[in-house]
Amino acid sequence: MTSISANVRRIIDLRSDTVTRPTAEMVEAMSCAELGDDFFRDDPTVLAFEEEVADLLGMEAAMLVISGTMGNLVCALSLSPRGSSFIVEASAHIQINESGWPSAIAGLTPKPVEGVAGTIGVDALQQAIAEAKLRLSAPPRLLCLENTHNAAGGRITEPEHLAALADIAHASGLRVHLDGARIFNAAVALGRPVRDLTKHADTATFCLSKGLSCPLGAVVAGGADAVQEARRWRQVVGGGMRQAGIIAAAGRVALNSMVERLAVDHDNAKLLATRLRDASLDVDVEAVETNIIFAKVPGGFDYDFFQSDVRASGIVIMPPKAGRIRLVTHREVSAPDIVFASDMIAKAFDLARRQAPSADARMAVPNAVY
Ligand SMILES: Cc1ncc(COP(=O)(O)O)c(C=O)c1O
Repeated sequence: MTSISANVRRIIDLRSDTVTRPTAEMVEAMSCAELGDDFFRDDPTVLAFEEEVADLLGMEAAMLVISGTMGNLVCALSLSPRGSSFIVEASAHIQINESGWPSAIAGLTPKPVEGVAGTIGVDALQQAIAEAKLRLSAPPRLLCLENTHNAAGGRITEPEHLAALADIAHASGLRVHLDGARIFNAAVALGRPVRDLTKHADTATFCLSKGLSCPLGAVVAGGADAVQEARRWRQVVGGGMRQAGIIAAAGRVALNSMVERLAVDHDNAKLLATRLRDASLDVDVEAVETNIIFAKVPGGFDYDFFQSDVRASGIVIMPPKAGRIRLVTHREVSAPDIVFASDMIAKAFDLARRQAPSADARMAVPNAVY
């Protein structure tokens, strides 16, 4: 890996909002948290946090889990029986980035549906349900939605559309799970209470460890029965925890102090997208609704050259995937960082597209995971 020149300032890490480290207030809260054993349901910090989250999301109950992936898994296990199918947007995180748990663990067959900007249309959902109900198909029992939608570039599905999709699913006998890893980004961008986005789902997951800056953790919420069943499944997959109040303590600080500031990340993403577009990169500024942007990588682009050039400026970016580079803004990237990073990225991009890549370099471009 290229070393960073001595005169370069600190790292500007645009790989993901998961790189955010806990705030001093979180570390303080974690070290002072009142703790018990969550397996016995007597960790007071976990109990208080779960109650706060349930209330915030307009759900009956909530449960702390280690990760968003585990949250999605235990919700699906709680809502849909083995041998059934679930409808999911074709590029949803569950479908492409969760290491195949639907088949590997849950015994579920995916029925992927192409969305527009990450959102499944009403007609497309109705058609997918009808197809999945054909006699030889695995019967559809679950609809999985994602908001914001990561691979679509942090796009938002409006609450009214979520409600319409949930109504169709419920009327057809399907339960609804919302992968809301970045649901607070959607709520803040829309200026709506988060419960407007979650209350139509039977279960929802959100991540503490992304823009909310906690060191780890996610939460699932839903009806009391669904969460109780998810709790049983969390135990099955080895996710039971003991003095988990240290995680919940950071989560409580996050909900009090990290939500509204997500608007800054959204402004910075717009700024980054605008500056890159103005520097002739292929970026759709209008599509930037929250904290994720994509820049298309042109043919003949020398990724190795680009990567070592931006890295030498202290900027860290994930390798391209599906012909695009993803850039994510978060608490540890300021507006001046964005100005600097956009200048460096634009310069490196321009040079890289003029390089004729060797066959080796082309072969070496790894796929990013996001
Ligand atoms: C939309 C979405 N869902 C779920 C996850 C999984 O979260 P975790 O990394 O905590 O398992 C991610 C992670 O990037 C995500 O972007």
